[in-house]
Amino acid sequence: MSVTPLMDRAGAAIRVQGLEKSFGQVSVLRGVDIDVARGSIFALLGSNGAGKTTLVKILSTLLKADAGRAEVNGFDVGRQAAGVRESISLTGQFAAVDEILTGRENLVMVARLRHLKNAGTIADDLLRRFSLTEAGARRVAAYSGGMRRRLDIAMSLAGNPPVIFLDEPTTGLDPEGRLEVWRAVRELASGGTTVLLTTQHLDEAEHLADRIAILHEGRILVNGTLDELRKLLPQATVEYVEKRPTLEDVFLALVTGEKR
Ligand SMILES: Nc1ncnc2c1ncn2[C@@H]1O[C@H](COP(=O)(O)OP(=O)(O)OP(=O)(O)O)[C@@H](O)[C@H]1O
Ligand SMILES: [Mg+2]
Repeated sequence: MSVTPLMDRAGAAIRVQGLEKSFGQVSVLRGVDIDVARGSIFALLGSNGAGKTTLVKILSTLLKADAGRAEVNGFDVGRQAAGVRESISLTGQFAAVDEILTGRENLVMVARLRHLKNAGTIADDLLRRFSLTEAGARRVAAYSGGMRRRLDIAMSLAGNPPVIFLDEPTTGLDPEGRLEVWRAVRELASGGTTVLLTTQHLDEAEHLADRIAILHEGRILVNGTLDELRKLLPQATVEYVEKRPTLEDVFLALVTGEKR
């Protein structure tokens, strides 16, 4: 089968052109275009029901688009699904961990399913990276929401896929848990992994993303760096304002000793 690539493999890690998707009468994606550079963090913002999960599902081959093209790591999502699946991992909006197993057992299981050698070493390394070493021997049923979320993300990283999709990775996490996930995501990108994440938390996109796109009414309204997006609004007038710490600043300073 011959597929004309939208790009060479060294270019953008994710390329989407004119993507459309409807569910019955409801037109959810109405011509979405995005490019995500290799090794960058791209945040997709949008309200509830904007179509973020739908787009992520199409890019991870779980759903078929009605029209348009999308490539991930040089593979066409419609016609080269196997290539796409080998290139990605997906952490869905709801944690997919096995409650009965321990954290370490979950990781070992995923590593074995992916035919990786040294599943135990990989599991221990991921536990360490996500501050779960101590919890590793406990059953997931006894984990907090944040621990589950971190384990879920750790599981998606077994095998070091070049592209990862994180659908609302920090929803339901406390501020400390969010910082830990952010740190892990930054580390991934600095190691060359391409990250596409969806979020409803504007500050998450601000802190984490190299580029931010806003999905609204089926189309990408804007796409740019934080500075570029800021320039879309009139320049702020200079006023004297006493900068007071937010409740989140106070909480984090007291709980982690960390100042942002
Ligand atoms: N399988 C489906 N069948 C019918 N409608 C669907 C299906 N999946 C999604 N939709 C509809 O498509 C729209 C977009 O849903 P989607 O889950 O992509 O939004 P989202 O941006 O991820 O929202 P949230 O922030 O709540 O997770 C919604 O109106 C939803 O009801
Ligand atoms: Mg969603």
